[in-house]
Amino acid sequence: MMSTQQIQSDGWLRRSPLDLIEHEHLAQAQLCDSLERIADDLPDNVDRRLCMQVIDALQFQMPVHHRDEELGLFPLIEKRALPDDNIHDILARLALEHATDESFASELLESLEGLREGKKLKNPDMVGYMLRSFFESYRRHIHWENAIVLPLARARLTSEDLEELNRAMVSHRQ
Ligand SMILES: [Fe+2]
Ligand SMILES: [Fe+2]
Repeated sequence: MMSTQQIQSDGWLRRSPLDLIEHEHLAQAQLCDSLERIADDLPDNVDRRLCMQVIDALQFQMPVHHRDEELGLFPLIEKRALPDDNIHDILARLALEHATDESFASELLESLEGLREGKKLKNPDMVGYMLRSFFESYRRHIHWENAIVLPLARARLTSEDLEELNRAMVSHRQ
């Protein structure tokens, strides 16, 4: 296990950018668990601190991660994949889900911000439904990437590719 300090420094990126992506998937799985807890605790028992954390993750961390994949990882896999890998459609589908999930997240943000301020929601059932649709589809997304995309990347990307991905990811964080 890496220490928190190592994860925060770019020493983590120097190790392997694929490890960082995998590590972020763990954080995203925790984000989904937090969203599930918020949905379960609606309308009156929601933890406001938890709302603050998920807002930050949805607003800042998720879009950076999506850029890492769409501008960094996916094009490199496309370049190196063999015809039998049949990865093109899967990557296109995952990129489409990024756009859908980001627009869905921006719709959720307003309600989460209200909850963070301790306000009462006008439509808690609808918000609960939206939260559940979001984390259910996001869990599937993470699963596909861990099961198909990252193993293929580990098999096909060269050390130059990993350096290129590393540079892209550093630039997305500046
Ligand atoms: Fe993704
Ligand atoms: Fe991902």
